[in-house]
Amino acid sequence: YLAKGIPLPEWFSRPEVAAILSEANPPKHRQGLTLWFTGLSGSGKSTIAQALAERLAEFGRNASLLDGDEIRTHLSKGLGFSKEDRDTNIQRVGYVAGLVSQHGGTVICSVISPYRETREYARKLSPGRFVEIHCATPLEVCEQRDVKGLYAKARAGQIKGFTGIDDPYEVPENPEVRLDTSTTSIADCVQIIIDKLIEMGFIQ
Ligand code: PPS
Repeated sequence: YLAKGIPLPEWFSRPEVAAILSEANPPKHRQGLTLWFTGLSGSGKSTIAQALAERLAEFGRNASLLDGDEIRTHLSKGLGFSKEDRDTNIQRVGYVAGLVSQHGGTVICSVISPYRETREYARKLSPGRFVEIHCATPLEVCEQRDVKGLYAKARAGQIKGFTGIDDPYEVPENPEVRLDTSTTSIADCVQIIIDKLIEMGFIQ
């Protein structure tokens, strides 16, 4: 009607019609949301994800966390770190996130997800409600932290195919948010994400 300049019919402005329309297409802040953290091991994904979950609760969004380590002990138990297994892992996480967010839930995924194409696959499973957050902390810093001692093992050749050492990480080209925990505090990182979500209309 609007595009063709036709006046809206009288019934269109009735409250019951508005109620039906807003039910079918609620505003963004009442829709589901998938927050997708990607980045190297030790780049701060899980730490920011947890702090973000606490802040989001203040905005009425109770988030489910899908964390790489946790997922690999349940949903993806038995999978390794070949490209094929990583892709399967990410496809599963993307599927669950899509399911949860499709029904109005908020889900925070925190997985290395090193391949661009597989991240794009996950994005398609949460259409219009996928926010990609790249934890771009430099490899040297992640390696220096080496919280789990895995980088040392990878350098010593005890772990093969470790992301960033002898396995690829494809840097996101256009993430909604890019953060570096070597120069930005966790609290500031969370605030940057919150500001972005307000700007995008996902919280208010
Ligand atoms: S992936 O690539 O997205 O499927 O990886 P993800 O499910 O997020 O699992 C990453 C965690 O597994 C540990 N780990 C490894 N990471 C990278 N490469 C290799 N080869 C590897 N082996 C074990 C590591 O602790 C990752 O945890 P985070 O939380 O990222 O530090």
